[in-house]
Amino acid sequence: MRVLSGIQPSGSFHIGNYFAMMKKMIEYQEKQELFAFIANLHAMTSLPRGDVLASYTREAAAGFLSLGLDPEQSVFWVQSDVLEVTELTWVLSNLTPMGLLERCHSYKDKVAKGIVANHGLFAYPVLMAADILLYQSDRVPVGKDQKQHLEVARDIAIKFNNDFGETFVVPEPEIDEDVAIIPGTDGQKMSKSYGNCIEIFCDKKTLKKQVMGIVTDSTPVEAPKDPDKCNLFAIASLFLSRDEKEDLAQRYRAGGLKYGEVKKDLVERIWEFFAPYREKREALLADQDRLHAILKQGAGKARDVAARTIGEVRKRTGLRYWV
Ligand code: TRP
Repeated sequence: MRVLSGIQPSGSFHIGNYFAMMKKMIEYQEKQELFAFIANLHAMTSLPRGDVLASYTREAAAGFLSLGLDPEQSVFWVQSDVLEVTELTWVLSNLTPMGLLERCHSYKDKVAKGIVANHGLFAYPVLMAADILLYQSDRVPVGKDQKQHLEVARDIAIKFNNDFGETFVVPEPEIDEDVAIIPGTDGQKMSKSYGNCIEIFCDKKTLKKQVMGIVTDSTPVEAPKDPDKCNLFAIASLFLSRDEKEDLAQRYRAGGLKYGEVKKDLVERIWEFFAPYREKREALLADQDRLHAILKQGAGKARDVAARTIGEVRKRTGLRYWV
């Protein structure tokens, strides 16, 4: 079974990315065939292009590799290194009804927020369908926010298969309803766009600032506190063993707990937790030739699969015009 996932290079990964998605991907590769890529073409819809896009892409690739994505065992590449995906996007565009895209929430939400949409943003789900179908993915684990995009991909696959004969695997979504939503420092879902992140690979001063900024209530120190209602507790739990978590919960309930102390301890925990990955990432970023070689090799493996699919698509659609 082939599992595929893409992640946009958004600058720096935060612990929400890690616990909700990357950690799962890294565990997947033990059991499944994993295809994972850095979605830099998608990022063009929201990032400043040029140097920023390029450096974010390198950093995302180095970050994912350092966290344990194994480029030997899995197929790991940068989206734009396999150009077949843009060709397939065009082919699929020609069987995608406007209405299907006009109904997409993420597009509608952005327009509602006042973003002046360009065609790239509108066509985003078609490119995503091309990602999924090009590599004949069986399963695509995504968050709830991407559920509709996956339905679009399925609709397009079914339509192509009906019109031109069985060509694509119709992908199954894997929507983890109970993936804990990782709260940000303000208690909302951790997200770059809310500015409530705790980054994985920042310097220690920044980490301290972010952790100290976790919003807590104003219960007096002596009073007992409810861990289940505390955002700080939820974040800290990610880095605690079960026993440690229980201990901390008891300290909450007993009264006398200072949030500041929990935060100080959390800074150290997070710093230690990611320390080995941080070193690996630095080393990779310092050796760009090596990083590039890994990504080129990954793109080669991805292209083997892509070329087979696109060959079939060309034949069936008549883009291959000789017999
Ligand atoms: N749209 C996804 C996101 O923002 C990223 C993505 C692009 C993706 N292509 C994909 C995810 C294909 C899964 C499969 O999270």
